[in-house]
Amino acid sequence: MPEGDGGEAPANEPKFPILVLTVSGGHNELILMKRHFDFNVIGETRDDAAGEAFDKVARLLKLPYPGGPSVMRAAKNGDGGKFKFPRTMLEVGSFDFSFSGIKTAVLYFIEKEKRAGRRITKKFISNVAASFQEAIIDVLVAKVIAAVEKYCPAETHLAGGVSANTALRERIAAEIAKLNKRRGAKIIFRCPQKFEYCTDNAAMIASAGYYKYKKSPKKISINYVEARASF
Ligand SMILES: Nc1ncnc2c1ncn2[C@@H]1O[C@H](COP(=O)(O)OP(=O)(O)OP(=O)(O)O)[C@@H](O)[C@H]1O
Ligand SMILES: [Mg+2]
Repeated sequence: MPEGDGGEAPANEPKFPILVLTVSGGHNELILMKRHFDFNVIGETRDDAAGEAFDKVARLLKLPYPGGPSVMRAAKNGDGGKFKFPRTMLEVGSFDFSFSGIKTAVLYFIEKEKRAGRRITKKFISNVAASFQEAIIDVLVAKVIAAVEKYCPAETHLAGGVSANTALRERIAAEIAKLNKRRGAKIIFRCPQKFEYCTDNAAMIASAGYYKYKKSPKKISINYVEARASF
């Protein structure tokens, strides 16, 4: 790792431009990186972030905190096609997101079922969780693939707490693979290999410090940063 002027590039260094989907409890952004510290936010949430929607739906379904993993676990035993929740795509060509409508749709749906006297069974909860998760993933995947087609990045990355969602990872990986096949492209898809690197963690701060130091060693007060990225 780094020696002298900041060291060699870490193995498996990512290639730019990179399209990043950051999905967490507080953020939902599509970011186009030209190089380290040089990026444009091409899309962001206009209301709730995806993680926030997972947390709110978990509360509606009385699933334990943290909401994202609970919904994902419940969804594994459910049918994602059972109930239809909205896929809000916004204006044609927009890379922005809006997830507050789906949370409200889930709330109204559960209330309607209760009013109709239907029992809130484990199976029902699993089906709502799976249908909600599928709707969120459909929107995220559609926006990522549209952005990949428009900007032709060398790599596509998925980051943030919601990147721990295995169904989301699998869908994006599968869609990128399909697009590569269709276009004869070689876009690399990466997401944190270990789940502990999906949410806030020290490695991402150290990694940012490492690249900042490489860019301008004199401006940074630390002499040596070893950042072993989780990718
Ligand atoms: N398996 C999962 N599926 C879906 N969502 C998940 C999963 N695991 C965690 N999450 C969600 O990730 C979010 C937490 O992620 P993170 O810690 O990156 O965000 P944050 O600190 O809330 O937001 P930010 O740092 O962007 O302001 C929570 O909303 C949580 O529900
Ligand atoms: Mg955070």
